[in-house]
Amino acid sequence: MSTERILILVKPDGVRRNLVGEVLRRIEAKGYTLENIAWKNATSDLLAEHYNELVDKPFYPDIVSYMTSGPIVAAVFNGAQIVKGVRNLAGATDPTSAAPGTIRGDLARDWGDGNVENIVHASDSPENAEREIALWFA
Ligand code: TYD
Repeated sequence: MSTERILILVKPDGVRRNLVGEVLRRIEAKGYTLENIAWKNATSDLLAEHYNELVDKPFYPDIVSYMTSGPIVAAVFNGAQIVKGVRNLAGATDPTSAAPGTIRGDLARDWGDGNVENIVHASDSPENAEREIALWFA
């Protein structure tokens, strides 16, 4: 049985707000294993592949400006059922609606500028995790 993996990105707002340790701590404290970590600067080419399902959305340019606004910490964690487990830890996409106790519910908010700044990316399936890990850790 191969171990399931996930790509985590602490997005530029998480880095700016000194929340790298807090985000990674929650995933480690749950019991998952960190296997790789690196500083990254997103390029528009990388983001177009990473967000291949969103490139045609009207808000996609806002995602690019947000994700290129500063450095990102990319990490790979592993563990059985990690995608479901970490998606639960991360919480809903919209930080205002994200449940208390989740990373986004506790640490992110709407800043009134029309952008969704939600601190963390977590792959949404084991297949997408492997695709994204290959992109970010090429
Ligand atoms: P998505 O993959 O739908 O959410 P999640 O990150 O919870 O898996 O969307 C990816 C990112 O795109 C999301 O984290 C923030 C941004 N986004 C917007 O800016 N506006 C939106 O309406 C949506 C759905 C997403």
